[in-house]
Amino acid sequence: MNTPSTILSAIPRRLHLQHNHPIAITRQLIESRFPDYKTYNDLFPVVTVGQNFDSLGFPPDHVGRSRTDTYYLNKDTVLRTHTSAHQADTFRANESAGYLISADVYRRDAVDRSHYPVFHQMEGARVWDRETLQDGKTLAQTVWDDVAKIPKHTSIEVEDANPPYHPERNPLQDSHSAEEVEAIGAHLKRSLEDVVVTIFSTAKAATSASSSASAGTIPAAAIEPLKVRWVEAYFPFTSPSWELEVLWQGEWLEVLGCGIVKQPILAVAGVPSKLGWAFGLGLERIAMLLYSIPDIRLFWSTDSRFLSQFSSSQPLRRFLPYSKYPACVKDVSFWLRTAASAAGGRANNATAASHDFHENDVMEIAREVCGDLVEDVRLVDEFVHPGTGRRSLCYRTNYRSLERTLTNDETNELHERFRKQLVQKLGVELR
Ligand code: PHE
Repeated sequence: MNTPSTILSAIPRRLHLQHNHPIAITRQLIESRFPDYKTYNDLFPVVTVGQNFDSLGFPPDHVGRSRTDTYYLNKDTVLRTHTSAHQADTFRANESAGYLISADVYRRDAVDRSHYPVFHQMEGARVWDRETLQDGKTLAQTVWDDVAKIPKHTSIEVEDANPPYHPERNPLQDSHSAEEVEAIGAHLKRSLEDVVVTIFSTAKAATSASSSASAGTIPAAAIEPLKVRWVEAYFPFTSPSWELEVLWQGEWLEVLGCGIVKQPILAVAGVPSKLGWAFGLGLERIAMLLYSIPDIRLFWSTDSRFLSQFSSSQPLRRFLPYSKYPACVKDVSFWLRTAASAAGGRANNATAASHDFHENDVMEIAREVCGDLVEDVRLVDEFVHPGTGRRSLCYRTNYRSLERTLTNDETNELHERFRKQLVQKLGVELR
């Protein structure tokens, strides 16, 4: 068990189901582009290692399985790290050719304005059955007919320099023909381009229509990402695989991963004659772009200055930050224990010898001590003592509340507790 109670307390929040919450509105906007797909929005986040990893073909030594990345409740049970944990069961339930799963997911990760240990994903999948093809058409022809039904967009520039598959980098699966994968890949990419274009252009239209009327809006250009590109990717459970990136303020942001579902997953799920695609997208990422929400912690806010700005029945409007409260920056420097001093010390499995130190442990202690009062934790200095070989690290912590100005005493006290916990839990030596 490496799951703190602060993480467990997020389970009942279910932001994706909270009326008028930006995560829920973003979910609904995307769902509206897939009207025939069955939606699952209630799946419980506690899953088996089998569901989260084994069923998807994760190798036994995959880093995703490690305790530094994943919250375990016991050795066989985790908080799901992605909505793909439900792929196999949903294919097995076989209730619809297409489905969407929205849910909270959990990962040990960095502390900064775009990472939070709990976030929300939407999984989508669509399959076709080789055994129930109509009118003597092949599966590829059937899929191309479905591709033709997806709305076409000209308002967006899509960069796709990738071949439909690549023998080494992004291979076809043994049981798939090139025609099938070209058709399914096209259906996947056109469907997701349609999602991205329609939701971002809704935002753009709404914002530009009201920009002259209201001081609370921004010029259209500021929310105009619309340049997207496909890049090749790798996932253990799809092949070929891709990621979709959106150009946002000069930077390419990854918004989703996807690919052609690995056939053994469908076979084990009892539907071996089906073929199809799957995607997984981060709802926070998309909502941050849509509404210009500057900090991922805001989604967890219960402050009405945040929540009152979103409504599913009104045109989308950019988030207006309430004044930005001052940050307070503090550094902490410490020596890691060497392997020798850790082994020679008292029996204590919390000691951090250099070799077992993981930055995510520092991140989690910051979260546990400071909750949402910590904005950012970053390694700013590192060196190895030439004589002793000991490693020293310096982390810079940025304290800031989204709701008020923190007092000096308060931040000093938080920082002191953070330092003490680093010593207690990781066995480091403060400098
Ligand atoms: N589960 C993957 C992730 O979290 C995304 C994904 C879903 C990729 C479905 C391919 C297919 O990164």
